[in-house]
Amino acid sequence: MKVLEIRPLEEKKLRVLIVEKEYSEPFWILEPSNNHAPKNILSSRFKPSVAFCNFLEKLIDEVKPDLITEEQGNRSSKEFEENNVLAQISKKRNVPFYAADIDENAKGYVSSLLEDKKQLRDSILKALEELQDKEDMKREYLMAYGQCLQQEIEEIEREAKFSVRESWIAMSVLENARKLEKEEITCLHISSPEHVEGVKKLLESVDVKVETIHPIKKLVFTQEKTSPAELEDLLRSMQIQIKPVIKKNSEEIPHILFFLDTSKRASPFDICMAYDAGFTVVVPYENVTTEEAKKIVQDAIFSRDPKGIKRTCFFIGGKDMEKAEEVLKIVRDSMFPPFQANTIIDPAGAYTTAAAMVAKVEDALVKSKLGKLKDKRVAIFGTGAVGRVAAVLLAKLGCNVTIVSPNPNRKDGDEYVAKLSNLLRDRYGINVEGVFAPTPAKKTEVIKNADVILCASVAGARIITKEMLNEVKLVKVIADVNAVPPLGVEGMKLKDDMKEFVPGIFGIGPLTIGRLKYKLEQEILREAKRNGKGTIYNYNYAMKLARKILKGEILSTKLAVTVRYPSK
Ligand SMILES: NC(=O)c1ccc[n+]([C@@H]2O[C@H](COP(=O)([O-])OP(=O)(O)OC[C@H]3O[C@@H](n4cnc5c(N)ncnc54)[C@H](OP(=O)(O)O)[C@@H]3O)[C@@H](O)[C@H]2O)c1
Repeated sequence: MKVLEIRPLEEKKLRVLIVEKEYSEPFWILEPSNNHAPKNILSSRFKPSVAFCNFLEKLIDEVKPDLITEEQGNRSSKEFEENNVLAQISKKRNVPFYAADIDENAKGYVSSLLEDKKQLRDSILKALEELQDKEDMKREYLMAYGQCLQQEIEEIEREAKFSVRESWIAMSVLENARKLEKEEITCLHISSPEHVEGVKKLLESVDVKVETIHPIKKLVFTQEKTSPAELEDLLRSMQIQIKPVIKKNSEEIPHILFFLDTSKRASPFDICMAYDAGFTVVVPYENVTTEEAKKIVQDAIFSRDPKGIKRTCFFIGGKDMEKAEEVLKIVRDSMFPPFQANTIIDPAGAYTTAAAMVAKVEDALVKSKLGKLKDKRVAIFGTGAVGRVAAVLLAKLGCNVTIVSPNPNRKDGDEYVAKLSNLLRDRYGINVEGVFAPTPAKKTEVIKNADVILCASVAGARIITKEMLNEVKLVKVIADVNAVPPLGVEGMKLKDDMKEFVPGIFGIGPLTIGRLKYKLEQEILREAKRNGKGTIYNYNYAMKLARKILKGEILSTKLAVTVRYPSK
């Protein structure tokens, strides 16, 4: 019994020209029961046209192939060899002609698998017909069972027709070429249109040089007008031109992401995320300065044509948000149409984290009927990139924002927050109050004067204690992004989602925000890979996308449920 195994031709060089037929060679594993008669004779002719045959003859004369292969489809070996005009053409030109198709035993195995499933499905259909009206629940579950089976049947049929059958076709081409005692072999493989790409990819995977030929037919009339009544004249005046469109070995242009990190170590988190989003290659650069960024960008974009630019993306990271923004400016200034590649900026994940936190709080307030975020007083504990971007997003929404440094180790606290407040005003056009609150008393005062508290301080530092919260009288919402113990807020759990963990205080935990942040970054990377429009993906984009995800406009890839038939 033959075993399916696609092995490279070691000592030989094989070139395959895949010639696309005018129709798909009929093939089925189990004969379809509803095989309706085709609408007209033109659509029912599973036979190469005169024009195609002439074209093939010319191609054979030009290329001088060492062998020709064709799918056998549903034809018997006798039919394939004796009643096949293509076989006759090959014979006339002394070129060996072989069937390349799924092995009979393999087909038999798949068909028995399908037969069993089809029988089961039919028995379910019968049971459904016999069911009484009142047995609603049973009907539902039988229907679901039947639909699952139908899906499985279609899946097996698709799998057999494409991946399994195409593997056999590719193997047959290779095995027939292997038999020839020549070092350089050229094969013409005549293929159904639907299998051209699949067979090509398989052959290319074992280093075969593949070109595909798609013959386009065009009618040319030598006389201007002819009515259908003068059919004879029409035919005489008509010529069919066939022009081949030849596609060379077209390796897919890879999706490359250049990861420009201003820190001394490129973030493995972002590198993994980029690969998981489907980028073919991620090239990390570390300690990137503005001068370096310019050189990297220009060197990269000039190596690719506009099509390649669409598959090029720059991702700017690094702990320092200001440095990352400077690099972004240089990256964008170094590009010009049509060499404008997508650019993502997310320094140390801060933009997606801040957007996820703000969007989550906004959504949670509305869902809990606690009013609109834009009307709230918000205090942000943390002056790093996450805190700063959250401040920008919130101030632009219309909130009254206070940004707080809670760092007891800081000596220049008041001066630092005043400078930060000025910087935010000058650079982002927002008015945010800066407060230095390193002690419990100062923190409590800030908490009392806010409706919403965001905790975005250094990982592993407790910023807000239960004691502080117990002094609070009004309802508050607190969100924390520090997932490293001890968490930023005492009493709050990682997965809390508007949980009242102190009377009147509703918490949103770091993992609840972290999950949204993860989806957000993943979606941004996927979008940047898909859409080659030269877009800048910054915190504003992240905020819009986070809202969409929360509204369920972007479905999670892991939406799985398990339903069981209720037992008595
Ligand atoms: N889930 C995610 O994917 C994700 C992504 C990024 C960040 N994060 C988290 O978000 C938080 C903020 O990150 P970031 O990069 O914006 O800022 P960061 O650099 O981690 O923290 C900055 C803030 O922490 C304060 N701080 C430093 N040491 C302190 C101490 N011993 N006690 C109290 N406060 C102290 C700083 O004080 P000064 O104001 O005096 O400078 C500053 O306000 C972190 O917890 C980080 O882990 C999560």
